[in-house]
Amino acid sequence: MPGNAVPPETILILGGTREAADLATDLVAANPRARIITSLAGRTREPAPLAGEVRTGGFGGVDGLVHYLHETGVTRLIDATHPFARQISANAVKAARLAGVPLDIRTRKPWERQPGDSWIEVETLEAARDAIPPRARVLLTLGSQHIGLFANREDVHFVVRMIDPPETILALPDHALVLGRPADTAAAETMLLIAHRITHIVCRNSGGQAAYAKIEAARQLGLPVIMVGRKD
Ligand SMILES: NC(=O)c1ccc[n+]([C@@H]2O[C@H](COP(=O)([O-])OP(=O)(O)OC[C@H]3O[C@@H](n4cnc5c(N)ncnc54)[C@H](OP(=O)(O)O)[C@@H]3O)[C@@H](O)[C@H]2O)c1
Repeated sequence: MPGNAVPPETILILGGTREAADLATDLVAANPRARIITSLAGRTREPAPLAGEVRTGGFGGVDGLVHYLHETGVTRLIDATHPFARQISANAVKAARLAGVPLDIRTRKPWERQPGDSWIEVETLEAARDAIPPRARVLLTLGSQHIGLFANREDVHFVVRMIDPPETILALPDHALVLGRPADTAAAETMLLIAHRITHIVCRNSGGQAAYAKIEAARQLGLPVIMVGRKD
């Protein structure tokens, strides 16, 4: 910044989602004099490039976030994290209040069941596991920390999709690994479902566009989706 002038606005986006990345692009374009910072937890090894500045890693709870907001002179905080990232969203509410910084909550709305959808709606991952019928072939699109929960379903073939390769071999007795982000189109997701002879999808109701193509593909193929909802 020329002459060390204070920028008119410093916006901190709590990110880690495609919507947060799009928001950073829009804010950088619309506010050329503002400082736009996206915060990532650091879970993804090679996050996609982002417009503006990026900081990575936890803040150290509410107190750490309050400290960061003051130290960095944040004038607006935007929560654009994943809807199941509940801790950081709760911290953002408390920290924004304590620091006196306005908070804009932009977390996604859940998907709504459409005509033709065959959803088995459950509240927990445990209930999702128990709802899988015997000898099913399941596309599992959950974070690696949740996979172990399904290990006792020895009768089920799992196709696990993850962005990064797991650090240790997955605990599932019978599984295939598909590395990469969700496809953008229902056609591409349909090909995956057919190629692996998938009979059920297990996923969480994340909302947004980035992971929705598999839901459309399941609708077209008439496949049941075991959908874990949000309890809030
Ligand atoms: N949960 C999901 O299914 C999911 C899916 C896709 C993307 N993501 C993204 O992955 C990140 C982590 O998700 P999570 O479910 O592990 O979160 P979480 O349980 O809500 O947060 C756990 C801790 O991780 C740190 N953290 C989380 N998001 C952060 C961010 N954007 N910037 C800096 N620190 C962050 C915070 O640590 P401190 O307390 O030390 O600040 C937070 O207390 C989020 O940014 C989220 O948007 C999550």
